[in-house]
Amino acid sequence: MVDSSVSTESLGRNIQASPDGKIPKKLRLAIIGCGGIGELHIQALKAMPDVELVAGVDTKPQCLQAMKQNFGLTDLYEDFQTMLARVKPAAVSICTPNALHAPIAVAALQAGADVMTEKPMAMNPRECRQMLEAAKTAGRKLAVGFQYRHHPNTQMLTRARDNGQFGDVMFVKCQALRRRGIPNWGVFGQKELQGGGPMIDLGVHVMEMAHYVMGSPKPVSASGNIWTYLGHKPGNVASMWPNWDHTTYNVEDLAIGQIRFENGAVMQVEASFAAHIPADIWNFSFMGTRGGGCWDPPTIHTDSAGTMVNITPAFLPSGDFARLISAKLRNFVDACLYNAPLMAPGEAGLAVQAMIDGVYRSAACGHDVGI
Ligand SMILES: NC(=O)c1ccc[n+]([C@@H]2O[C@H](COP(=O)([O-])OP(=O)(O)OC[C@H]3O[C@@H](n4cnc5c(N)ncnc54)[C@H](O)[C@@H]3O)[C@@H](O)[C@H]2O)c1
Repeated sequence: MVDSSVSTESLGRNIQASPDGKIPKKLRLAIIGCGGIGELHIQALKAMPDVELVAGVDTKPQCLQAMKQNFGLTDLYEDFQTMLARVKPAAVSICTPNALHAPIAVAALQAGADVMTEKPMAMNPRECRQMLEAAKTAGRKLAVGFQYRHHPNTQMLTRARDNGQFGDVMFVKCQALRRRGIPNWGVFGQKELQGGGPMIDLGVHVMEMAHYVMGSPKPVSASGNIWTYLGHKPGNVASMWPNWDHTTYNVEDLAIGQIRFENGAVMQVEASFAAHIPADIWNFSFMGTRGGGCWDPPTIHTDSAGTMVNITPAFLPSGDFARLISAKLRNFVDACLYNAPLMAPGEAGLAVQAMIDGVYRSAACGHDVGI
């Protein structure tokens, strides 16, 4: 289990400058992949006084140009190998399509850098293991960009679990469902670059936080199915992201899976880019022997003094997206510079990847599979 002493409080780290105004330690960090999430990483990192953004890498010259114009980054590269050799960064943040997470992470670790990789950790568990092996051999840190475990709702439920309020968690239902939300940018519809569709792209978020709240039990088997019925055709209804590239779309629209854990607990997961449902859902709920809970609205269901009660917090801090991205990067920087425990180490990424992979393998073969 991850050290529960690390929380969103790490956002408030007070970095003391020396009397001459200098920050004693600075992390020389490079961003690899300067697209949508890469820009958010840069915004968050630029606000940290103990981080020096030393380089940016992207294969698209227009993205590099934007880095220069918007963030003043001047040491820019189209090739990550050249950047690693010339800049020798102490750490990298990988924000490329999923297929590149493992090769870039392994190269960066071998070059002596600590690594934060965006979610999902990689394309499959085999790649995750290669990354973990490379980190171990190099003696470097490997973190996965699971920002939702920093969310105040997740932290509240985790503290309640540690307090014994749920007893043993038996069943968790995870939902990452979009009614019509096929991304119309990037390569999210291309299996060869992403590894899959909503299961690996959206399901991963809700699964990682639910697995964290459960106490990270070991997954042992999976079953499920996936369906494609809309994304590979031109869109013919109004939606928030119209005109996605249906010609290259070869991932699922909907995935349903069930994962069994070594302790007997079961997780059900539902993830979609497109589904005929009343509205989008982003949530998980669970039942334990002493209490149950829900992520949104954050609630604890239990018995108290002869009454069944639903407990809701009187106050929780904001969980807005930019704050969560800052929190996960702050934790990574704290780990690199000050040896703080990682909230989402590579091992957590592998466990979630194994669950996703199990559902995909079960869908392909039509029966339960071992994890
Ligand atoms: N944590 C989150 O909430 C979150 C949100 C969005 C995306 N992501 C993840 O971040 C990653 C990127 O997603 P995005 O939405 O930013 O996609 P994007 O398409 O906007 O950006 C990806 C960038 O990587 C660049 N790139 C491609 N090949 C490269 C290479 N070899 N070297 C350097 N750069 C390269 C592309 O040119 C592009 O600019 C994905 O893994 C995705 O799952 C995470």
